[in-house]
Amino acid sequence: MNAPSLPSVARPVAAAPAVAATPVATGFGGTLSEGVAKLDINGKSYELPLLVGTENERAVDISKLRAMTGVVTLDEGYVNTGSTTSAITFLDGEKGILRYRGYPIEVLAEKCDFVEVSYLLIYGKLPTSDELNSFGKMLSHHTMIHEDMRSFYGGFPRDAHPMATLGSVVGALSTFYQDSLDVRDPRQVEVSVHRLLAKLPTIAAYSHKKSIGQPLIYPRNDLSYCENFLQMMFAVPCEEYHIDPDFADALDMLLIVHADHEQNCSTSTVRMVGSSDANLFASISAGICALWGPLHGGANQASVEMLEKIVADGGNVKKYVDLAKKKDSGFRLMGFGHRVYKNYDPRARLIKATCDKLLAKIARHDPIFDIAQQLEEVALADEYFIERKLYPNVDFYSGVIYRAMGIPVQMFPVLFAMGRLPGWIAHWIEMHHSPSQKICRPRQIYTGERLRDFEPISKRV
Ligand code: SDX
Repeated sequence: MNAPSLPSVARPVAAAPAVAATPVATGFGGTLSEGVAKLDINGKSYELPLLVGTENERAVDISKLRAMTGVVTLDEGYVNTGSTTSAITFLDGEKGILRYRGYPIEVLAEKCDFVEVSYLLIYGKLPTSDELNSFGKMLSHHTMIHEDMRSFYGGFPRDAHPMATLGSVVGALSTFYQDSLDVRDPRQVEVSVHRLLAKLPTIAAYSHKKSIGQPLIYPRNDLSYCENFLQMMFAVPCEEYHIDPDFADALDMLLIVHADHEQNCSTSTVRMVGSSDANLFASISAGICALWGPLHGGANQASVEMLEKIVADGGNVKKYVDLAKKKDSGFRLMGFGHRVYKNYDPRARLIKATCDKLLAKIARHDPIFDIAQQLEEVALADEYFIERKLYPNVDFYSGVIYRAMGIPVQMFPVLFAMGRLPGWIAHWIEMHHSPSQKICRPRQIYTGERLRDFEPISKRV
């Protein structure tokens, strides 16, 4: 299949470059062979290729395992299983390292804005100023949604969760923009990319306005990405809205640190759905649904709700730390722990620092920020958390900033989705670029009934 690449755009502005192709596969999608792993099954010995990535991560290539041995591997939750090679994001969970296309997250958060980081993730390189201007202008062409889509919001209940709205409306983009559904046409892929990046803030803000019974506010193309989102969220037609630059900057940082995180649950979902050649809108809608879960992107909402509960309950953090240690309590510290980070999540560190600065700047004291810091202190000194290497993750402090901006708690996962969108897009495109791309279809081990005779209903007891 001719993998789609984002071509230069045929528009009056400077052409945007074609997306950087992922590394040409050296035997295994950009990895090097590093000898073999030996496997002994029932006395028969097999050799499987050992591969190493650019950051010395090593893998046993089992792509021919079943054909060679007749057995498959089993790994619930893919704790030990790499689903692909990727050149987009590198993270080292032991050292708390996160890099997008080789650039440390700390540097990008300080020196870039979200549109620039989106370009980096999708095109594989930091843009020149012409490329960035062209990309930004492209996005501003697409910020409005079809007027008929606005009427959708009249049909949703006022208390609809905005993640339900977001997933529905993004999926419905494929009904309005049928001219950009062909995953094999690079130009159609590119216009879908621009439409999604430009329209997601509009779709998100509209669901908030619907929930508070206020008129939907049109996007403004003279504003930056984050300024525009804030004005669509909080402006009203009857008075001037003043954008707080501190809020716009804090939001920009939050979107950057959420922009990608290698093969997390929602990104793997986008790749899985995209692997069937489903269009980009459908694949992103599926990613939004996966992100909604409280164990994943929904944790920022669950974390603030947990902190609010602790404040309301007198602020006894030790009580909740102890509860989280009880297996049968069904309670976990939301915003704590991570499948990959067994060290402090570098994003949590950046977000906590921004929390500190922003709350001081706006002279706002938020009791849940105090409680969050106390909770962190108690948990990180507790053997249970130390032994399991449980640290605050990206979702632990982000909600404090969203609250300071006046963003309602149900919108927190929506902002996570806005941040993660360029990462989802970059992985979807990379997946289509892969020379070894195939539909995702895992195996299983059947543990059900053996062959049974059918009993007519008259004989069933
Ligand atoms: C995100 O993958 C990504 O990259 C995700 C993400 C991204 O950017 O895309 O980083 C975003 O989803 C961050 C995580 C947000 N979720 C939460 O904050 C929910 C609370 N955290 C947990 O549910 C949990 O830590 C997970 C889901 C994040 C990770 O779960 P794992 O890797 O499957 O680990 P586990 O459930 O097997 O836990 C290992 C042990 C268990 O104890 P034992 O059985 O060994 O005795 O640690 C315990 C767990 O009970 N544990 C916790 C805990 N998290 C794990 N105990 C108390 N509180 C917690 N938060």
